[in-house]
Amino acid sequence: MATPSHTLPGAPSTRLPILLLYGGVLLIGLLLGLLPWLEHGWNDTAAQLFARYTARFSVLLFLLVFVARPVATLWRNPLTRGLLMRRRHLGLAFALAHAIHFVALVSFLRFQGSGFEAGDAPALAAYGMIVLMAATSSNTAVRRLGRWWKRLHRAGIWYVFLIFLAAYGGRVVEGPVEAVAGAVPPGSYGAHVVVTIALLGGVLLRVAARYRPRPQAAPRHR
Ligand code: HEM
Repeated sequence: MATPSHTLPGAPSTRLPILLLYGGVLLIGLLLGLLPWLEHGWNDTAAQLFARYTARFSVLLFLLVFVARPVATLWRNPLTRGLLMRRRHLGLAFALAHAIHFVALVSFLRFQGSGFEAGDAPALAAYGMIVLMAATSSNTAVRRLGRWWKRLHRAGIWYVFLIFLAAYGGRVVEGPVEAVAGAVPPGSYGAHVVVTIALLGGVLLRVAARYRPRPQAAPRHR
């Protein structure tokens, strides 16, 4: 999930913040599993909530990666430049967070006594994309793959975007769901609306950055 821009010289020294980023993602991922466990015991309810919370955590990281370039293009300042320079690590942090979602959903399926079904193929393909992008997030891969690197990462990010949009947008279209006594409460409708708007807002930013009016070159003096 890198961009060739990471190969540019002048990247700020990022070792400590980057270690904190990965450590923080691991810690938050563990907490998102631990809290439902402490509340419900280690059972299917806890695993379902673990999957739900880790999906929400992942989508936050995904959104940062999704908008890093358009935001840096539209508003040039040290903050947006810093975000862009760290996009590779944010992408890898997203992959890590989503790997934790995978652990959660496999636990959930085991409690259910079921496995993956044909309908899971699009989501599993998203995992394939995430693995491919993470495996090629290096300067060496950027060099070796050439123009295919950009194609792979562009297709991958849009594919994962579509899976998130289908998941959250689908829940928005279905409308609020009534809680059933004894069952895991449905996710908050408000949260689904907010994430769906954020995802669509990300698309608008990408379009705006792509078609922004470019400053005209100053006329040459003879
Ligand atoms: C076959 C693979 C997958 C399975 C079996 C699976 C399973 C689950 C489960 C059990 C939940 C909790 C449902 C609930 O809230 O009650 C969940 C939530 C979710 N998952 Fe996954 N997941 C898979 C892959 C993915 C992928 C690849 C993405 C996105 C790229 C994703 C995004 C989400 C989202 C957005 C939610 C809803 C979280 C919320 O309610 O806020 N999942 N998933």
